[in-house]
Order: sequence, then structure tokens, then C-alpha cells
Amino acid sequence: SRTNHYDFFITETKVTRLCREKSVLAVNGQFPGPTIEARRGDVVVVNVHNQGHKNITLHWHGVDQPRNPWFDGPEYITQCPIAPGASFTYTVLLSHEEGTLWWHAHSDFDRATVHGAFVVRPNKLGSTYPYPKPHGEIPVILGEWWNADVEKLLEETKRTGGDVNVSDANTINGQPGDMFPCSVAGTFRAVVERGRTYLLRVINAGLTNDMFFAVAGHRLTVVGTDGRYLKPFAADHIMIASGQTMDVLLHANNTKGGRYYMAARTFQTNPQLTVNNSTATAVLEYAGAAATPPELPALPAVGDLAAATAYTARLRSLATAAHPADVPSRVDERMVVTVSVNVLPCGGGPNNSNETCEGPINGTRLAASLNNVSFVSPAGVDVLDAYYSSVGGGGVYEPDFPDRPPVAFNFTEAEPATELWFTRRGTRVKVLDYGAAVEVVFQGTSILGAEPHPIHLHGYAFYVVGRGFGNFDETRDPATYNLVDPPYQNTVSVPSGGWAAIRFRATNPGVWFMHCHFDRHTVWGMDTVFIVKNGKTPETQMMPRPPSMPKC
Ligand code: C2O
Ligand code: CU
Repeated sequence: SRTNHYDFFITETKVTRLCREKSVLAVNGQFPGPTIEARRGDVVVVNVHNQGHKNITLHWHGVDQPRNPWFDGPEYITQCPIAPGASFTYTVLLSHEEGTLWWHAHSDFDRATVHGAFVVRPNKLGSTYPYPKPHGEIPVILGEWWNADVEKLLEETKRTGGDVNVSDANTINGQPGDMFPCSVAGTFRAVVERGRTYLLRVINAGLTNDMFFAVAGHRLTVVGTDGRYLKPFAADHIMIASGQTMDVLLHANNTKGGRYYMAARTFQTNPQLTVNNSTATAVLEYAGAAATPPELPALPAVGDLAAATAYTARLRSLATAAHPADVPSRVDERMVVTVSVNVLPCGGGPNNSNETCEGPINGTRLAASLNNVSFVSPAGVDVLDAYYSSVGGGGVYEPDFPDRPPVAFNFTEAEPATELWFTRRGTRVKVLDYGAAVEVVFQGTSILGAEPHPIHLHGYAFYVVGRGFGNFDETRDPATYNLVDPPYQNTVSVPSGGWAAIRFRATNPGVWFMHCHFDRHTVWGMDTVFIVKNGKTPETQMMPRPPSMPKC
């Protein structure tokens, strides 16, 4: 393995989109930020210099960081933030990841503009692509743009308890594309040679949107997700949840014309939500083609649940000798975890504001929960430090996150029990023994809004062994699990009014955040933490605390 060094300067950078200039946080003046390139098993060292005006942290999304939670990044979970003017060096340990991952800020809504690709190529000695090596690579970072300052958006939702304003455009590589005013000159263009094959590294960096993506005139071959390979399959479009990545081959073999749109559109099933229903575009151009207007691909409609479900059901891990699937066949811990949007009384918000309160029920503010617990992030200390430095966490957290929902009920009915509208706040974590085989069934509820939630786990990838609609049935549904070649992911889209079951072995000791990757749900409390205890031997134990950790 090699060690690759990067310097990331966080600065305020002026960016013009949708006819307006605004100042955003960016890395090295780039939006999206620089691409980290590595090979399987490498060590990546990133020196972060915070020259912005606010606290920030960075996270390496999809990197397991074996035994190394210190450099995972979520603010107040594994570290105190990097203060303005301060620097902090992250050591990022790659192990079996191979494919497309990404990095992003993990503080407030900073990742809206502080994000980039993290590309892990095979290590020639130990591994090769399981498909013919592509002629070239095309980055496709899907995102969202707000004309408003995203820090103000966050302050406003905290103050009012209402929802976050919908974004003003979806973007591809930071650009809304040709359908938007003042945007044509900036539209992302990829030039390809006819007859060649390209690897599209698709990342959904959106704060609030799952997305459909397609390329006009081309079928796509999906070969990977979340930094792991898949059994290849052909698709006219993909669905990519917020936080996920997809590796997709594009064969430049269309003989008619030479310019095609790549396009992305929101996927959202909740009819009560205002959605950004704009289409972001980029141009795929054959070398030497005439400058004819490109055609748009057919994309599923915003609410096309059937298209999203059919796509997701096709993901299968490679499960070969070189890339084996190792699914726990029995489990030591089974948790059933409801995933809900809720309300709290007005005064109980993150800043205890008693001002105007714009929750959906009089006198309430919006909240979100796992098993009806709205996670409260500590302040002034992080969970990892509390765990490391004092037995039992010194009162910073309680090790009693519930394994089951508070009451059994019909999770998918239109009007669930009103007692479940309200949630309880707490810093409640789940403690796991080293090596435990864990199953978590996420149950989407219809409390205050039927929408899918992309749940992301730090420190691990997991097998998505089952997914279905309606209430999870513990006696019937496990029989339908795929324990042979389920996809290996770090983010799973829990369907609205349905469930998703994951399995993993708790072999990475440390403190690992788990949360909805829609940022407003993260701040509303749709989060918890797994503390995985040390094993008995030194190689099954957390690394010691680096002396360089930032202070709160
Ligand atoms: Cu992509 Cu906790 O984050
Ligand atoms: Cu969510």
C-alpha cells in the first residue's frame, strides 16, 4: 500500500449559479471539491486547514476506517470540530473498499458545497476490475443548489421548527445545466470517442433528494455501488439515494448523432412535500460531433415508486472468489428500528426556542426519530472521547437505545396512533460486543409523511438481505432474505411504508454514527450511535487516541 497526501484549504469562495453570485464554503476554491484518488488498501492523509468562518469536520463516506474511529469525522460523535483558523490531519485507512466513494463535511449543512469524489482503484497486486478496464472515467456528482445561504436555511428550520426550503436546482458536477437561466455556459460536458467504454462514477451528494439518472441514447451497465462490485446488469435509468454511489459503464456506441443529455431528477414519494421537480443536465458529446441540440433521456416521474423499487431490487453483489459475499447466516442481535418524522412541543427544539413554531400540528416543531428516540448530539464533548476516557461515558450518553419500537402498531396505516406523533429526545446509543452478528430491520412508518429515508452507517458496509412493503413480519419475512449475493452497501433506502433488513458483523471496534442521509432529518434526530466494544486481542481493539484531536 502507498500513502497519498492531500492538502485541503477550506475557504469562502464566490460562486455564480442561477444568475446570482454567492459566497460558499469550498475546498481549494473548487465546487465540487477535489477528487481523492487511491488504490485498494492505501492510506490517505488529508491536512485540513480551516480558513472559513465556522467550525467544520470532514467525513470519508464509505471508508470503514478499521479500528480508527478517531478520523471518521462526524461532529460531536467522533471528534470536536476544527475551529476557524485551526488545522487537523485526517488519516484515512482503506481496506477492502474498491470503486467510488466520496468525502464531505459532517457539520451542520456544510456538505452542500463541501464534498467531492473519493476514487479507489484496484491494487494491481491483489485485485483487478472484474470487467474490461474502461477507456476513461466520467465523474457524475449529483447535488442540489440553493440561492439562499445554507447556514441560514439551517438556522431558520431550528428557529421555526418548520421544514427546510426546497432547493432551487438539482445539479450535475455543481452545475444545474441547460434548462436553467444563466447556466448554459457552465453546463458540464464529457467528450467521448465512439466505440469506447467509460466508467461513470455517480455520487448522490444531495442534501434532501434521492435521484433518478439516465443518459439519452444509451443503455447503462451497472457494475458497482458504495465502493463494492455488483453483478453487472443493463438499465435505462438508475435510482440513487442520497449518500449512495453507483459505478456505471457507458458504451459510446450510438451511431446516430453525437450529443446527448445526461439528466437527473428527484425521486420523492411523499405527495405532501413540496419537491424540487427540476431536471439537471450535462452533455455527453462524441468527439468531432456537430453542435446539434442534444436530446433528453426518458426519466421516471418524480413519484415513480415502481421504477425506483424495480431498480433497487436488481442490485446483487458479485459473490465470486475474488470478491466474496460473507453474509452472517445467523444473528446474535436483531433490532427492529422504526424510521419516522415526528413532532416535539414548540419549546423542545434544538435551541429551546419559544418563538413562532411552524410544525404541522399546532404548538409543535418538526422532529425525526429512530424507535421514537430523537437523537441529541452532545456539545462540548464528543461521544468517542466520552467513551474512551470514562467508564460508561460519564453521563454524556445512555447505553439504552431500544431494540424494538415503543409500542406495536400498524406502521403503515394512514393515521397511526397519535401518541407516536410525539418523540422523546435523548443521547441513547446501542452497545455491541466485538464480533456480534447483527441484523437491523428498518421499518418506515407513515407518521407525518410517507417518504423513503436513506439510512447510512459509519464504520461498516452491510448486506441488504431484504426489502419489502407493509409491516415487517418477524415470522414470515426473514424466509425471503437473500443470504447468497445481497448487495453490500453503506447506505440503504428504507421505502416509505415498507422495511429494509441489513446484516453485518461488528468487527470494527469504535464509535459509529448511523443516520438518515437527508440532512434535515439528521438535525431533527433520525440518528443513533453504535459503540462496538474492543475484542480480546490487540488487532481487535481501537487504536489509541491521537494526541492531535481538536478540543471543543
Ligand atoms: Cu455521508 Cu454520516 O455521512
Ligand atoms: Cu430521512
